[in-house]
Amino acid sequence: MSTKKPKSISSHDQDVIHKPSKDFSAKARIPSMAAYRKLYKASIEKPEKFWAKEASELLWQKKWSKVLNWKAPNATWFDGGKLNVCENCVDRHAAGPRKNKAAIIWEGEPGDKRIITYGQLHKEVCRFANVLQKNGVKAKDRVLIYMPMVPEAVIAMLACARIGAVHTVVFGGFASEAIVDRLEDSGAHVVITADGGWRRGKVVPLKPVVDEALVKYQKVSHVIVLNRCGNEVAMTTDRDTWWHDEMVNVSAKHEAKAFDAEHPLFVLYTSGSTGKPKGILHTSGGYLTGVHTTCKYIFDMRDEDIYWCTADVGWITGHSYIVYGPLAMGATQVMYEGAPNFPDFGRFWKMIEEYGVTIFYTAPTAIRAFIKAGDSFPKAQDLSSLRLLGSVGEPINPEAWSWYHQKIGGGKCPIVDTWWQTETGAILISPLPGATPCKAGTATLPFFGIDAAILDDAGNECKAGQDGRLVIRKPWPSMARSIYGDKERYKKTYWSDYPGIYTAGDGARRHKDGNFWIIGRLDDVLNVSGHRLGTAEIESALVSHAAVAEAAVIGRPHEMKGQAVAAFVTLKGSFQESPELRKELIGHVGKVIGAIAKPDDLHFAIGLPKTRSGKIMRRLLKELVCHGTVTGNVTTLEDFTVIEALQKTIQQSVAHHQ
Ligand code: PRX
Repeated sequence: MSTKKPKSISSHDQDVIHKPSKDFSAKARIPSMAAYRKLYKASIEKPEKFWAKEASELLWQKKWSKVLNWKAPNATWFDGGKLNVCENCVDRHAAGPRKNKAAIIWEGEPGDKRIITYGQLHKEVCRFANVLQKNGVKAKDRVLIYMPMVPEAVIAMLACARIGAVHTVVFGGFASEAIVDRLEDSGAHVVITADGGWRRGKVVPLKPVVDEALVKYQKVSHVIVLNRCGNEVAMTTDRDTWWHDEMVNVSAKHEAKAFDAEHPLFVLYTSGSTGKPKGILHTSGGYLTGVHTTCKYIFDMRDEDIYWCTADVGWITGHSYIVYGPLAMGATQVMYEGAPNFPDFGRFWKMIEEYGVTIFYTAPTAIRAFIKAGDSFPKAQDLSSLRLLGSVGEPINPEAWSWYHQKIGGGKCPIVDTWWQTETGAILISPLPGATPCKAGTATLPFFGIDAAILDDAGNECKAGQDGRLVIRKPWPSMARSIYGDKERYKKTYWSDYPGIYTAGDGARRHKDGNFWIIGRLDDVLNVSGHRLGTAEIESALVSHAAVAEAAVIGRPHEMKGQAVAAFVTLKGSFQESPELRKELIGHVGKVIGAIAKPDDLHFAIGLPKTRSGKIMRRLLKELVCHGTVTGNVTTLEDFTVIEALQKTIQQSVAHHQ
């Protein structure tokens, strides 16, 4: 096991225990560790009973006949049950006392504001469901959504769910090639986009990126375009229409028909260890049960809360904890379009004060950027409305944890460090804010019904303090059902390490107190600013450039991003190394995948370290980058002079940057 103790955790930081205040506990749904242990034990002994009780808080048009059918790795939850996910997130609130309650308090980056009540959201979603149907979208059809962080992105997703269509949201930072790949894999024939979105004071064009993709993938029959920024875009006759033109001609009434509990809800692409992103498939009843239950206990969400999750709807956090979870709860939430540092690093804190945010959920990479920007920004604002903080996406280092706790939470807010994945659909390991004693850097304990463990290579449970693989031994309702169109890859990726057990791909260890410490990915997946990127994806983007013969990509520790992308390339004979070519290659990755995947360092190499059978030894590259030298076993290395040459290259580049 190549897992290591993260350097930044000092024993002192690990030992400080933060118990929830008596006041917080008294009002929480799970008010003590005794209450957690009791319900956890019951939920593990009888998971079906636990999940059935939770599922019954949703609105079912027909009740299920069986809670779980399980033949590893295939699970079906709530068989025989029928529900409409959108009806659960919108109609049932719009039809009751929450009709005039704000569902979304939205702020655009330039400062424009909108408040959308559940009643209004209902009308908009019904209208857009009618638009989709008018354009021939039927149940199970795939619809690709490529939008900025505007309420219409949520409306589009909910409208798909309402008519049983399967949305596949592509993060607005991805490039046109990424759209082509996802269109090809999902077979979507309708795209919903916007002219652009605001980011750091500039318009980021979106429609032109879609147009570029549609030159390559020609099976899209309809593109619906939201006018967000007014930037000039080309509209193709008979294919492209404006959102506002479509919406005026349809009724605000639409019946929410019931779909099977296992009806597909969405496909969300995420990086794996090959160059081809995986389309993670989630279904309806189980997924909604998972996100609703976790919002209820982990965020302890109440009607009077103002909740804010800063993720983008293009990632799983946006799906589960902006769209489906909070709306199923009938919550009021803040949604923000732009960058955290626009016009300056005070933007989030100003918004927290202005809207009286009570629950705030963000990522460690953002927290580290705020620390660097200085305390004066949060200090200038009144953050006393906050009662609970959350963290997601990567391990939170103790320095970031303490700053978040003190400077943002005023030392009084519990922090829920939530561990989960695109594949798990909902949070699986996290403190419960009124019960669990927190320590900086640990996601603490498994959620109800989640049988998490750490196993060694032989499948034995690791002893306290021993590193191993994080696994989940029992099925849970919000688990992915497949990789879209590739059940074999699903089985191989997640279910083949140990029979009948889900392997998360993360290394972890458990301490004597039972707390889980997540160490990081064990596969060739990087976590850059909380985003998953496959090294193979970046390598294949580099190799697609005419100058590149071979490429190898590794992650190196980075103060802000968690991990940075370091690339090594060998050039084809007729090309010469130059600073211009380096820049061009970095830009090329941005063009093929998107800016988030751009290498931070790019080293030219005369050769890459390989085994005699020709496999690139990334481990050695990593050691060279992180420690300047290689240790351990190098007997399988084919040519040691390659290492010596690389060592020189890296030293030169370090000297150059100093
Ligand atoms: O390595 C873990 C890390 O993020 C991976 C999942 O990435 P993704 O599917 O993009 O979902 C991110 C948002 C849920 C995991 O395999 N990760 C996520 N949350 C944590 C974490 N690592 C440590 N602590 C966390 N709280």
